[in-house]
Amino acid sequence: MYVKPIRNIVILTGAGVSAESGIDTFRSEGGLWEQHRVEDVATPEAFARDPDLVLRFYDMRREAIQTKQPNAAHEALARLDREWPGGLLIVTQNVDDLHERAGSSRILHMHGEHLLAWCTACDMRSPWTATLIERPPCPACGESALRPDVVWFGEMPYRMDEITAALRGCDLFVSIGTSGAVYPAAGFVRQARDLGARTLELNLEPSKGSAWFNESRFGPATKVVTGWVEELLNR
Ligand code: APR
Repeated sequence: MYVKPIRNIVILTGAGVSAESGIDTFRSEGGLWEQHRVEDVATPEAFARDPDLVLRFYDMRREAIQTKQPNAAHEALARLDREWPGGLLIVTQNVDDLHERAGSSRILHMHGEHLLAWCTACDMRSPWTATLIERPPCPACGESALRPDVVWFGEMPYRMDEITAALRGCDLFVSIGTSGAVYPAAGFVRQARDLGARTLELNLEPSKGSAWFNESRFGPATKVVTGWVEELLNR
């Protein structure tokens, strides 16, 4: 069988890549949704119903991520980003900034970012490290209409055109630390595969879409991701 040489790589990351940095995943035992029902904190309806609860929840998360550090998996992906001569795009579902802090630059946040505030009055995004609960004014227009720039359930993920184009052109699709429970990200493996890419899963355990991958490697991200990057760069 002819196997295309690998030039363009798309890497999808999820909460599992940040787990060893001490950031809760969403669906594992003790995960975030166990303490809060999704509908109470991560939907536009929840924000309309109880903005204080939602803002406080995201204020806590925003504060927490600023105390965390990138781990060996983030570092390995940043090294791959620096050294891989072909096309590469990291599409992350994570709203933390640990990929960037590790040094990745070819990265896109499809579910938004904790460290941005979005003004629903003027549509500007502003870098934000403080809290939003006291309804601070938007730095651009002065209105008190800021919300976390995080994609909630029922909202459209960001930059889907760029992601689709990258999936179309990739020879290898790699999914790291995601349960495969949330679409459209969970469908990327099939899109890439249908278009001829090889597909690899690196996760602690089989994800929901595990059967769609040509290859799966199971273990903590700090081990399996570092091992895979080493292998790829030394081929
Ligand atoms: N190394 C690798 N994988 C891990 C590790 C680890 N140390 N720890 C946990 N995992 C795996 C889990 O086994 C699980 O399959 O990471 C996955 C995390 O899955 P989820 O908690 O469902 O997170 P994710 O897939 O990123 O969620 C997708 O759902 O709630 C929304 O918008 C939110 O972006 C999020 C989206």
